[in-house]
Amino acid sequence: MAKTRINFVGCGRVARSLGRLWYRADVLEIGDLYSRSNASAHAAAAFIGAGRATERLSEMAPADLWMIATPDSAIAEAASAVAEAVPLRDGDGVFHCSGACSSALLAPARAKGASTASAHPVLSFAVPESACRDFAGSHVGIEGDAPATPLLDRIFRAIGARCFAIDADHKMLYHAGSVFASNFTVVLLDVALQCYRAAGIDRQTAGALMRPLVEAAIGNALAVGPATALSGPAARGDVALVAEQGQAVRAWAEDPGIAYEILSRLAIDLAGRRPN
Ligand SMILES: NC(=O)c1ccc[n+]([C@@H]2O[C@H](COP(=O)([O-])OP(=O)(O)OC[C@H]3O[C@@H](n4cnc5c(N)ncnc54)[C@H](OP(=O)(O)O)[C@@H]3O)[C@@H](O)[C@H]2O)c1
Repeated sequence: MAKTRINFVGCGRVARSLGRLWYRADVLEIGDLYSRSNASAHAAAAFIGAGRATERLSEMAPADLWMIATPDSAIAEAASAVAEAVPLRDGDGVFHCSGACSSALLAPARAKGASTASAHPVLSFAVPESACRDFAGSHVGIEGDAPATPLLDRIFRAIGARCFAIDADHKMLYHAGSVFASNFTVVLLDVALQCYRAAGIDRQTAGALMRPLVEAAIGNALAVGPATALSGPAARGDVALVAEQGQAVRAWAEDPGIAYEILSRLAIDLAGRRPN
């Protein structure tokens, strides 16, 4: 049976990583690669080890599957450009990998007869070599039309993913979960380091103070749930100290002060949900 052929539009970190994984696992035939800059398309072909970099969308040969791997804000525009410039056939799959946006962004391709979907790998692709190494066992949230969705399920499972269905209508909130869990945890660690520094603690000592606290907080929250893992003044119901500390943080820096106040409210609410 002929192998499913995939073309890429947008040749950054996700396209390169997934392209290499599918190529090396012999899951897909790597077809044509197009990106805003031709240099990215060539770099992607080199990283994947296969594929033909094209200078224009209109030069791309037909493919069973089209991956639109531009930044989220460019997906709709890229989908229009693909629908306009390439020979989509009825049932060809067109998908993107955004966690926040739904496959509805691909409406122009759908109007041309394509089967549209999205597949969101819940993994950081910041360093493609690491993403390729760590991909197996990661989760991929899929939504959209058949036959694209069962095809995506098959090709992601073939490189070790655990696929699950997501509701297209709730993707912004679904993705916000990852933003809170991952991105904002990093932001909070940075604010913590700034607090330590403003209190005269050197960077090395601050790191050493923080490490066991961070590791225990995350480990416990994952093991027994956030309500049971919560500690600190809000968890103890020490409202007076929370107010005083909030004022001290705000006097030092406005935005961390506002964050302290809102996070304390959330912490008091969380403490109220602790099982007895
Ligand atoms: N990075 C992650 O950790 C991660 C994780 C899960 C899902 N995702 C999703 O995966 C998708 C791609 O993310 P990424 O991290 O691979 O982004 P990226 O590394 O920034 O790559 C995006 C690529 O698209 C090209 N591009 C931009 N506008 C374009 C257009 N109109 N037409 C064609 N190509 C265009 C870029 O420009 P050049 O050609 O100039 O280089 C770049 O090569 C996004 O939907 C993102 O939400 C990312």
